[in-house]
Formats: sequence, structure tokens, C-alpha cells
Amino acid sequence: MTQVRKCVFPVAGMGSRFLPATKASPKEMMPVVDKPLIQYAVEEAVAAGITDMIFITGRNKRSIEDHFDKAYEVEAELAARGKLELLELVQGIIPKHINCIYIRQPEALGLGHAVLCAAPVVNEEPFAIILADDMIDNDPAVMQQMVGVYEQHQCSVLGVEEVPREHTRQYGIVQTDGGEPGAVRAIVEKPRPEEAPSNLAVVGRYILSPRIFHHLASVQAGAGGEIQLTDGIAALLKEEKVLAYRFKGVRYDCGSKLGYLQAMVAYGQKHPEVGAAFSAYLKSL
Ligand code: UTP
Repeated sequence: MTQVRKCVFPVAGMGSRFLPATKASPKEMMPVVDKPLIQYAVEEAVAAGITDMIFITGRNKRSIEDHFDKAYEVEAELAARGKLELLELVQGIIPKHINCIYIRQPEALGLGHAVLCAAPVVNEEPFAIILADDMIDNDPAVMQQMVGVYEQHQCSVLGVEEVPREHTRQYGIVQTDGGEPGAVRAIVEKPRPEEAPSNLAVVGRYILSPRIFHHLASVQAGAGGEIQLTDGIAALLKEEKVLAYRFKGVRYDCGSKLGYLQAMVAYGQKHPEVGAAFSAYLKSL
């Protein structure tokens, strides 16, 4: 049985909804309480047994590489001051057995194009994709749930959830055979509510067969002039089985201001250090 060992993190987008915060630093480095979004995403992949983290980066993304790299100065300073707990925290950001690989997407030509940039490193293996700005809170983590589905069915798996009909325009929407997980019959990028085949939206978690690269290479620019991952998946499902898995967990769309604030409130309230005081503060408002 093939295992899912690699995860692609597309982090080369513009992050325009968070300007000016994202003018010089990436959206994925925005913290929820005290950890950047990308760290939560990597921790989710590690929990799913994935060992190779492939970041598709762009301009202004150096801080992501630095975040997962050794920080000699910070570490020396913390050691000199005897701040051993903090030192351990900084050194433990990524476990020793994990490989980090960085690929540059020269132009932000869309999510499908970003994923295609990973082809030379992924090769002929099934692989995961996590969009760090979709934070999903649950134990076991969503990618771990999805790897379980993959191991059982040995085919591509899309993480989906029901969204209000009026929001279909923000997502790739699937039509399935109604099973759990459901076999995907069709997938459409950002349909108008009246044209959407359902209200089941694909959110930032995928396990894909390497055959997707073949399709992405021939996909034409679609909605918004970008190469859409959805169009690649639409071509893939004509020749291979693709499942839609309704994951268990609460999703926060941290690519939007409201979702980001909601994540901050949720994670703030259960934070071991400040959770109790923060909850009391919220109640007092
Ligand atoms: P989004 O649609 O959220 O776009 O991309 P964005 O640029 O990050 O944010 P806004 O809409 O301008 O505010 C979904 C994911 O795909 C990545 C983004 O980094 C994000 O994780 N992406 C998008 C790329 O890596 N490259 C691209 O060309 C486009």
C-alpha cells in the first residue's frame, strides 16, 4: 500500500484581503495567539504521519523558511539568559525527522499552478495539500482523518463541508453520489448559488493522486485568469475515483478577517497560559 508521506503547502498567494498586514510579510505567518498559521498546518501534517513538507513560496516569504530553520542568535541568547523553556519551544518547532523543502512559484498564477510547481519533488506518489489559512480544530486532526480514508480506499480524497448556499461563490463545490465518503461526480469552481450542484464545499485539505500533475499541466487559466486546482480535479475524476470526505472539526477561514478573529477567540479561550483570563475578559464585556 502506498503511504502519504508528502504534504504541499501553497503559500505564494498575495493575501490581498489582509493588506496592509500582508504587504511585506506572508499571510501564513500571521499568528493565532502565539503560533503562526503555517505552524498549525505543519503540526497537522506531522500528526498525520507525513514527513516531507513542501512549501510553495513566492515573494516576501523568506520568514516562512526562517521560521522552520535553526535560529542561532535567538537560541544562543535564550541559552545565555537561562530561558530554557523558551529555548525548548523554539528548538521544537519542527521535529528532527521532518524534511522541509522550498520551491519558488515565480508568479502567483493560481492554486493549481502552485501545486504543479511541486511535481518534480512529489513524483509518482499520492500527496496531501494543506491550505494553512483554513484552520480546522479537532482531535484527531483533519489530515489524520483523511489519511485514514485514503488508506481504506486508496484514491484521492477531498475535505468538504456544507456551507450556506449564498456562499458557494467562494468555493469549489462538489456533487457526489450521496455516500459517506461520497464519490465525486462533478466539481465546479465558485458557482453562483443558483447554479451550484450542491452546498458541499471543498476546503483547504486534499489528498491527491500524482495523476493530477498531468491534468494541471494542460489546464487552461480559468476563473480570475488563474490555473485552478478545481479544474485539474474535474479532469482527474473522469479517469480516477475521487472521494469527498465530510471531516469532523470546526473550520476557521483565516484568509478572511472575520474567520481570523473567530479563530483567535476560540484558540485564545483554550490557550493553557491565557485561556482562563481571556474567557473571563470576554464574559465581562
Ligand atoms: P487564496 O485564494 O486565499 O488567495 O489562495 P490569497 O492570495 O492567499 O489571498 P487573497 O484572496 O488575495 O486575500 C488559496 C491558497 O493558495 C495559495 C495561497 O497562498 C493560499 O494558501 N496560492 C494562491 C498560491 O500559493 N499561489 C497562487 O498563485 C495563488
